[in-house]
Amino acid sequence: MCGIVGYVGAQQAAPLLLEGLTRLEHRGYDSAGLALLGGTGIKVAKRAGRVRDLTEGLPKRFAGKAGIGHTRWATHGPANDVNAHPHADAKGRVAVVHNGIIDNAGALRQRLADEGVDLVSDTDTEVLAHLVAASEADTLEGKVGAALAQIEGTYGLAVLHADFPDRLVVARNGSPLLIGVGEREMYVASDLAAIVRHTTTVAHLDDGEIATVTATGFTTYGGDLRPVSRIAETVDVDPASYDAGEHDSFMHKEMVEQPAAAERVLRGRLDDRFGTAHLGGLNMDARETRAIRRVKILGCGSAYYVGQMGASLVEELARIPADAEAASEFRYRDPVIEPDTLYVAVSQSGETIDTLLAVQEIRRKGGRVIGLVNVVGSAIARECDGGIYLHAGPEVAVASTKALTNMFLGFTLLALQLGRVRDLSIADGKRLIAGLERLPAQIQEVLDREDEIAEVAERLAAADSLFFVGRVRGYPVAREGAQKFKEISYRHAEAYQTSELKHGPLALVSEEVPTVAIVPDDELTERNVGALHEIAARRGPLVVVTHEGVDLGGVECVRIDVPRNERELDPILLVVPLQLLSYHAALRLGHDIDKPRNLAKSVTVE
Ligand code: F6R
Repeated sequence: MCGIVGYVGAQQAAPLLLEGLTRLEHRGYDSAGLALLGGTGIKVAKRAGRVRDLTEGLPKRFAGKAGIGHTRWATHGPANDVNAHPHADAKGRVAVVHNGIIDNAGALRQRLADEGVDLVSDTDTEVLAHLVAASEADTLEGKVGAALAQIEGTYGLAVLHADFPDRLVVARNGSPLLIGVGEREMYVASDLAAIVRHTTTVAHLDDGEIATVTATGFTTYGGDLRPVSRIAETVDVDPASYDAGEHDSFMHKEMVEQPAAAERVLRGRLDDRFGTAHLGGLNMDARETRAIRRVKILGCGSAYYVGQMGASLVEELARIPADAEAASEFRYRDPVIEPDTLYVAVSQSGETIDTLLAVQEIRRKGGRVIGLVNVVGSAIARECDGGIYLHAGPEVAVASTKALTNMFLGFTLLALQLGRVRDLSIADGKRLIAGLERLPAQIQEVLDREDEIAEVAERLAAADSLFFVGRVRGYPVAREGAQKFKEISYRHAEAYQTSELKHGPLALVSEEVPTVAIVPDDELTERNVGALHEIAARRGPLVVVTHEGVDLGGVECVRIDVPRNERELDPILLVVPLQLLSYHAALRLGHDIDKPRNLAKSVTVE
């Protein structure tokens, strides 16, 4: 969703800001804009459409060595030039870019209008520009603080003011904001991707903080405007990981990276001697771990589906009742929070607002939450009592692939550790560790079949509607497969438990509606094969993702075989072909793989 980038230093800001905005494009947006502070005050350029459109339409003399830029995802008012950020006050002396939502914008707009202010946009953000301009505080941080004191809601924001030409002021509450430290120049951004080419030394603001940023440094303040100490740290990230390189899309690159990413999440965490996992970040000793009576997993979208896979792992390996729930629904049903339940928040970005709010709800009620999070230092990671970092590396494509694989592996490690302090035998622990060690090479084997899978995808791309079906361990795999397929191919793809087909959906099976069936070699294979026959009897085209050597009873189908591992680890090897199917179907249909319509990488507003 919306992205922010800012610069103050000795260089011209516009090219740096435009480059930063281009690097934020993957987050999803519908308009873009810049504000620069030069010798003649603040200049704003903004328009609906792509960053490319903004660049082409920039006025000739558009100069300034301090500036802010934004990509907007429309919330208040349609995507048009006027509603694009930055927003300015009536005199054009203040410019603001903002991510998040101001809940009391309606009342503030009314009050400003009553005071004679002419509001030109439909946005909530515009009120901020007017409130900053109206403040009588002596400093820019004071003016911003005074404006923020009047608003309710979430924000990551950056402000320019013509009376303070050497600085930007930024603030955060519920929407990420970081400061990047360069050589006599400073950057601000909502996502490291925007500035990683220029610096990897960053300071993250905490909720409620404001910071003043000049070319030579920054000062951070709490909500009461008293300085708080915040030290910039160099993050261990390769800037090249934010480039697609030889791949046609980030999604392709990230799928291909899965074997290496899987090795990273396992590295140093497997203890073959005791057949267990070492997860120091959980911050729980063996006694506390044993006291857990239930596990509740919370995530959104693909993270929720992988959470279902995780719940099965916990139940199977640790014999602790476990389930997964959509974080977006959780807090609205006033959930009972139990002291002996371990709550697990799972998120690639660590910024998904629904998951973050669920974590806050649990902690407010005294529950213990751990995070399975990819982005180090993100809001969810910081909010949790402990956790497991996923080490998938930056994931840029909207469609999650390598992060999802590492989430699954993170759950396996968690289940192993929970299991080994209970009844899971050392032999079973060792069996799983051996399986985990084989997994990266087996993921690679599936990836090596890309050409074969691409051919199958071509046939699926021709259908308007598809089913993805699976049972027990295979059901979340089917859900994730359908999710990926609809996200990037825009085809109607619906997941069902195979066992539920005959209770309704079978009515839709026909020559025009293919089914992708997940049929692992397990205790349900025979029953699954029975369902395949029911589909085939109704002329439903079938693609079956199964294990090498499984007898499908002569049913007419296209089969995609995956290697065998330990049964508990099946889901991830079954998921990878579904990623490739979606990717190639979308490619065939000519879609923009990394920027699917209507979707954003991080969903930071409710
Ligand atoms: C699907 C996808 C989304 C995310 C969801 C949660 O490919 O990417 O469904 O999984 O928005 O995002 P995170 O994991 O960042 O919390």
